Amino acid sequence: MRGWGAGKLILCGEHAVVYGHPAIALAVDRGTTVTLRERPGPTGPGVSDVDDPRLRAALLAVLPEDGLAVDITTTLPIGRGMGSSAALAVALVRAEAARRGVPLSFDEAFARAFAVERVFHGEPSGVDHGVSLRGGVVRYLRAGPSFTALPTPSWRLVVLDSGIAGDTGALVAGVRARRVEPAVEAALVRIGALVGEAERALGDPAALGEILDENHARLTEIGVSTPALDGLVGLARAAGAFGAKLAGAGGGGVVIALVEEAGAVLAAAAKARVPAFEVSPR
Ligand code: PMV
Repeated sequence: MRGWGAGKLILCGEHAVVYGHPAIALAVDRGTTVTLRERPGPTGPGVSDVDDPRLRAALLAVLPEDGLAVDITTTLPIGRGMGSSAALAVALVRAEAARRGVPLSFDEAFARAFAVERVFHGEPSGVDHGVSLRGGVVRYLRAGPSFTALPTPSWRLVVLDSGIAGDTGALVAGVRARRVEPAVEAALVRIGALVGEAERALGDPAALGEILDENHARLTEIGVSTPALDGLVGLARAAGAFGAKLAGAGGGGVVIALVEEAGAVLAAAAKARVPAFEVSPR
């Protein structure tokens, strides 16, 4: 029995979304496949040398204690802010429902995948697996939760991979602790406002690029960017991107660059030996 979950990118609004501000995110054409096989003994990863207690705990949030081997394949970079854990959560929930032969409502799938996400991230906002389940470009609000489908844009995104994994749980906890600083709280409020501006500018890549640039500056202010990420943002802008920002929790992970055509940014990344690829909304 098999299930698939899409990865995601946050276009605008990460971290602020945790505190009730909106975020815009999109499901991407890369993701994770889970295949369940009957096997005697404890349920666990199909490959016997994977012995990660957190992964086993995540699997058991959805699966029975015994009797299943779980094969996981992914086209997402892991721990880079592209929703690899959310894609796993969604794929797992779908594979488990397929195994039972029952249809899965959105609300049920959202709640079950949330249990998996909590194992990885503590108390996430839900944007990652919500967008993975919904697909397309979505405005997300934690209250509800509420999802609003947005039009699929004509611009493109190039992903530049810092090669460093960020620890989402630790980064979110760090921002939470720094919220007592007025400048940090003000930056989070401004990020929330930028999401509204981004929604209105979705069809205008030049305007949207400027908003993404400011979003990155505000994420730097709250302490989640790194010199490596700032360098990738600079590289993308110098190559002609409309705008660029870190995407996801930061501390590492990826930068997204908003472009009309991917070629120039991809070429600049290749020259700097930075892994990069184009993604499409899915
Ligand atoms: O690093 P990621 O892709 O898991 O992004 C998490 C997004 C945050 O806003 C930082 C946290 C959250 O739960 O929304």
